[in-house]
Amino acid sequence: MSNNDIIVSLDIGTSKVRAIIGEVNNGTLNIIGVGSADSEGIRKGAIVDVDQTVQSIRSAVEHAERMVGIEITEVYVGISGSHIGLQSSRGVVTVSNEDREIGEEDIERVSKAAEVVALPPEREIIDVVAKQFVVDGLEGIQDPRGMIGSRLEVEATIVTGAKTAIHNLLRCVEKADLKVKELVLISLGAGQLALTKDERTMRTALIDIGAGQATISIFDSGNLAAVSTLPIGGEYVTNDIAYGLRTVTDQAEKVKLKYGCAMMADAAEDVVFKVNRIGSSIEKEYTQEDLAAIIEPRVQEIFQLIHQEIYRMGYRDVAGYVLSGGTVAMPGVLQVAQSELAAAVRLAVPDYIGVRDPAFTSGIGILYSVIRKNRGRGSVAPGKKPVNRPKSSPAPETTQKTGFLEKLKNMFSEFI
Ligand SMILES: Nc1ncnc2c1ncn2[C@@H]1O[C@H](COP(=O)(O)OP(=O)(O)OP(=O)(O)O)[C@@H](O)[C@H]1O
Ligand SMILES: [Mg+2]
Repeated sequence: MSNNDIIVSLDIGTSKVRAIIGEVNNGTLNIIGVGSADSEGIRKGAIVDVDQTVQSIRSAVEHAERMVGIEITEVYVGISGSHIGLQSSRGVVTVSNEDREIGEEDIERVSKAAEVVALPPEREIIDVVAKQFVVDGLEGIQDPRGMIGSRLEVEATIVTGAKTAIHNLLRCVEKADLKVKELVLISLGAGQLALTKDERTMRTALIDIGAGQATISIFDSGNLAAVSTLPIGGEYVTNDIAYGLRTVTDQAEKVKLKYGCAMMADAAEDVVFKVNRIGSSIEKEYTQEDLAAIIEPRVQEIFQLIHQEIYRMGYRDVAGYVLSGGTVAMPGVLQVAQSELAAAVRLAVPDYIGVRDPAFTSGIGILYSVIRKNRGRGSVAPGKKPVNRPKSSPAPETTQKTGFLEKLKNMFSEFI
């Protein structure tokens, strides 16, 4: 196994840092190692303490290294947060080749041309994603390589972020002795992994509910159309439990993970547990019903806020919702979401051994996006389903090209 076939993603979340080692064989991704560490130094997805964050990254990476027995030197780092912005842009160039055949170099130049946008000084470009190419006025071209023409245009989405957030993230990873191969917008990666091509075409909202933030990514006409991040997540649920049961956050988190249920109707009155009252050694017994009575209204509220935010973003007619992130792993969350959002809702659970948990969608999505960005034109090993897609939708194709290309050659990622 050559080193070229191993890629590592880093998802730095509010509650956990996750390093995932993927092995790419004939275009098929296998997950061969996972390292997780509790996050310290992250609040609501933002780095607030560099040294603590570096420690958490090191710990997650060492964990993954030990599992696989390799040394990790380079990582693809996920980025998300309320500072992320999308803007449309166009680039136009004259085809350089004398015989007017469009080549890689023209695509790079037109992409560079699309990058020329007015940005406030505190913002920076993270990625350029092509929506379509136009060759001599002919629209809707996904891959113009090899076509004949004199004028090449690209319609692209520019992904930008706040310089401070980007630089702090890069700094932490570099201080953990890792080289950042690329920053990957988690919305893009997770969308490619978790959504079918049809879903990406038909206006679907991918909702990642983590510990400290909820990210809404709207896919429409095959592209990522809008993103928004709200400062809400599983921490709210844990805090409500701590308050409601008058116990400390650690215990509240433990009972949430073990007995949590978001639907009072599904909770059992004969499932009981004990927690210590805060400031005393007295234990008090509660039932799963008591717990669900605390959790259900909060989970309802989270989906109401998400629904409102999607309206505010200007999307009133979303065809369906796909849920990811650790918080949606709780029994009953899907049902609450279905009733609050009043639409088709499903969970995205990665279909890889050892990581069948919606909390891993982001980290695996990063790997998936890297493979897709660097893919050749071939096809994937048949039958491999990367997530629990609806049965009717085939898994997307993935193939790895030897050697990873530069960012601007990545422009076909959204057309698959
Ligand atoms: N089985 C479960 N039941 C209930 N809650 C769960 C379960 N598994 C994970 N969670 C909750 O999910 C949250 C963590 O989710 P995730 O790992 O996606 O977040 P993160 O990436 O660390 O944070 P963020 O994305 O908000 O920055 C925590 O609040 C945790 O309590
Ligand atoms: Mg997360």
